[in-house]
Amino acid sequence: MTLAPRVEIAHLTKRIGSKAIVDDLSFQIPAGEVFGLLGPNGAGKTTTIRMMVGLIAASSGTVEINGLDVAKHFQQAMQHVGAIVESPEMYGFLSGRQNLRHFARMCQGVTEARIEEVVQQVGLEARINDRVNTYSLGMRQRLGLAQALLRRPDVLLLDEPTNGLDPAGIRELRDYLRRLAQSEGLTVVVSSHLLSEMELMCDRVAIIQSGKLVDIQTMGEIAATADGVSEVSLDVDDASAANAVIAARFEGIEVTTRDNELVLTLSREQIPELVAALVGAGAKVYGVRALKRSLEDQFLAMTGGRSVD
Ligand SMILES: Nc1ncnc2c1ncn2[C@@H]1O[C@H](COP(=O)(O)OP(=O)(O)OP(=O)(O)O)[C@@H](O)[C@H]1O
Ligand SMILES: [Mg+2]
Repeated sequence: MTLAPRVEIAHLTKRIGSKAIVDDLSFQIPAGEVFGLLGPNGAGKTTTIRMMVGLIAASSGTVEINGLDVAKHFQQAMQHVGAIVESPEMYGFLSGRQNLRHFARMCQGVTEARIEEVVQQVGLEARINDRVNTYSLGMRQRLGLAQALLRRPDVLLLDEPTNGLDPAGIRELRDYLRRLAQSEGLTVVVSSHLLSEMELMCDRVAIIQSGKLVDIQTMGEIAATADGVSEVSLDVDDASAANAVIAARFEGIEVTTRDNELVLTLSREQIPELVAALVGAGAKVYGVRALKRSLEDQFLAMTGGRSVD
């Protein structure tokens, strides 16, 4: 099925002074996909989402929602968008329901029945008549989500939606977003610095580092790559001789020494090649240990760990 993308970002860039904090990002997201923006602190996730909802202007490049350019047709484009970027504006002295009614008055066509529906969808029935300042962080998040959903958006943008949620809350949010994506074709964009959360929530992730797109992968691709890569630790009699054999066999590979053992990263297929090469060169191999790299390790390797500002 080839449908026009719901969200289309082309060469999106934000410069502040001489620095590009979002640098030439391009990607497309179809209907019904849960798409992740994954990157360490300062990578540019919030800035990207703020440009996507027109909170700040792009320096160059475009954002289109349902084919509508956010910069040129802001009002129309935003009719299709629900978002939680900064903590949503809520009145603490009003109840959850009063807050939703207040917000509904600013939108067109949001009925009392729709309010009831979203309250149920986010599971706030029991507390919806209580004042918001008695809510826990997780309840506030859910109320924010209810508010973002009131207008039946086609695209939902959530900046770090799992912040402050406990594991059960994260699981609920994930199930809820996935259900909406599947049943209503809602396109969801979430950001996070944790691959483990993205793994549970998203169909695809864009990995962002220092404002640049490193890669876009499906969760299946990320898992498959991590599956095939191991950190190999070698116990040999003569480390420098072994190093020379490794350098000759696997050009450019990085070898470090840890606890008198040589450590290098190889694909599964390369491990027997390495052993054969060492034995062939007369090295004494006392031990070979291969540790699978976790998804988290792989993400750190892709982004080089924390961002440096
Ligand atoms: N108004 C601004 N003026 C100057 N620099 C800014 C401004 N807004 C953001 N930045 C810088 O741009 C970079 C990206 O910030 P952004 O908030 O988008 O990152 P992030 O990926 O959301 O990070 P986090 O995971 O910490 O939320 C950071 O280095 C930040 O300091
Ligand atoms: Mg952020």
